[in-house]
Amino acid sequence: MVITVDGQPVEVQRGVSVAAAVSAAKGYTRRSVCGEARGPLCGMGICFECRVTIDGHAQQRSCQIPAAAGMQIATEVVIERPAASVGHGRRAADVVVVGAGPAGLAAATAVVRGGQRAILIDDNPAVGGQIWRAGGVPVAPSIELHCQTRVVDQPAPGVLRAENPDGIIDFSYRKLVLATGARERFLPFPGWTLPRVLGAGGLQAMVKAGLPIAGKRVVVAGTGPLLPLVAAYLRQHGAKIIAIAEQQQAPLLMKFLSALPPKKILELMKMAPALAGVPVWSSTWPAEAYAGGVTLNRWGKLKKIACDYVACGFHLIPNTELARMLGCAMQNGCVVVNERQETNVADVYCAGEPTGVGGVELAEAEGAIAGTAAAGQGPSKKLLKQRERYRRFADRLDEVCALRPELRDLPRADTVVCRCEDVTYGQLTAQPDTRAAKLLTRCGMGPCQARVCGPACEFLLGWSAPAVRPPVFPARVAAFSASASRE
Ligand SMILES: Cc1cc2nc3c(=O)[nH]c(=O)nc-3n(C[C@H](O)[C@H](O)[C@H](O)COP(=O)(O)OP(=O)(O)OC[C@H]3O[C@@H](n4cnc5c(N)ncnc54)[C@H](O)[C@@H]3O)c2cc1C
Ligand code: FES
Repeated sequence: MVITVDGQPVEVQRGVSVAAAVSAAKGYTRRSVCGEARGPLCGMGICFECRVTIDGHAQQRSCQIPAAAGMQIATEVVIERPAASVGHGRRAADVVVVGAGPAGLAAATAVVRGGQRAILIDDNPAVGGQIWRAGGVPVAPSIELHCQTRVVDQPAPGVLRAENPDGIIDFSYRKLVLATGARERFLPFPGWTLPRVLGAGGLQAMVKAGLPIAGKRVVVAGTGPLLPLVAAYLRQHGAKIIAIAEQQQAPLLMKFLSALPPKKILELMKMAPALAGVPVWSSTWPAEAYAGGVTLNRWGKLKKIACDYVACGFHLIPNTELARMLGCAMQNGCVVVNERQETNVADVYCAGEPTGVGGVELAEAEGAIAGTAAAGQGPSKKLLKQRERYRRFADRLDEVCALRPELRDLPRADTVVCRCEDVTYGQLTAQPDTRAAKLLTRCGMGPCQARVCGPACEFLLGWSAPAVRPPVFPARVAAFSASASRE
């Protein structure tokens, strides 16, 4: 099929995302406030670097939108005339689950098995969360599913407001399960804003969404188990992996590997052939990216490497904005839950990565426990045992992915930290805290709402997490001024 990008016809395959199509055609998706070319970073709807104008609608996150025949796409920002009115729907269920990744799917399935009505909401075009985002995940027909729908606010107790392409929907619930997952942590280094530098999971998501990678040279860098997973995936799709650069020291990596649960050892063994011959360098991290390559800091020495893509992420951080907006208690950046996955807020449960990053098995166990509890039943001993086992794995993951202090020297004074507003590290070091930086530099005030620069500032500058205010994602003004026009 054919779409139009900045007036030029472009042939694309069915199922390709707009971000993948535009990146392949133009090499970038937007210009920053200072005029730099930018491309997708996260591939999952968090960073807003992929936003384009589609059929006259401005600020669309193109990584979340499948390309359709005849689409007119512009990388230039247009001023969109606000719609006079938008649709306003209302839905209700016993249990509403936000997030259709492994945790949310397990929760919604447990709810309907318990004889209750469940609504499952996700921002992505399909269910599956980050790990199964290529699609094809079965959903029980009794679950009411709302994809491309993102929860942005709580207008009244027991009601969540969400935005979808048609307008807004208010979801009423008796019980709520938050399963909002995690995102990659990004650290700024010189050149990290170049369009060919993406998150590790970000590049994987873009390839799953149709970005051609065959024959491309890729350096995978950062920290965490996602790096080898991504490298194996990209290689299986024809990429040439030049190296995996892991910031952690070798002894800690070996300690982590030697204590893996049997299921993870099996996964590692399955992945090994795809990584045969790929150098894995410990104590190595990106010092600078430039057009056509990256300089790595390897054991204190700088090494220049030519490549087409740098895929760089520093493990994962929980998506807790919605939980924090609802008043859920937090500890060490994670939502606090009891044995039944209940938060301190009445009738609100939380499962999966927002309670701590621990992988798909932990997410599924927590989701099933939360859904069972929300349906008014007790979880099985088997589920509780699975959760315990993988919580121990999560603790070891935290240890092996701890960032080393040298990474605080990654940015230079002129390195952009806040990509939405082009605020540099030098501008931020002149500020005492998050609040002053927001007021005086606009750091964290752009559409990603500090999801990218906030965690970076926490690590680099020791600042606290920025406060959360509704809407938790940018939403159309028209959507909020709409009166009920459709049920
Ligand atoms: C980029 C990335 C790539 C990954 N790739 C792999 C991999 O290849 N292999 C692997 O083993 N593990 C991978 N992981 C880890 C894996 O995602 C987790 O181990 C596990 O799947 C987490 O499940 P979850 O249900 O907690 O969260 P997720 O799978 O992240 O699902 C959370 C869902 O919540 C939705 N959501 C969040 N906020 C809102 C909102 N306000 N409104 C509506 N929907 C919302 C998101 O769109 C998302 O679909 C990856 C993680 C990331 C971040
Ligand atoms: S790449 Fe689309 S929002 Fe980050």
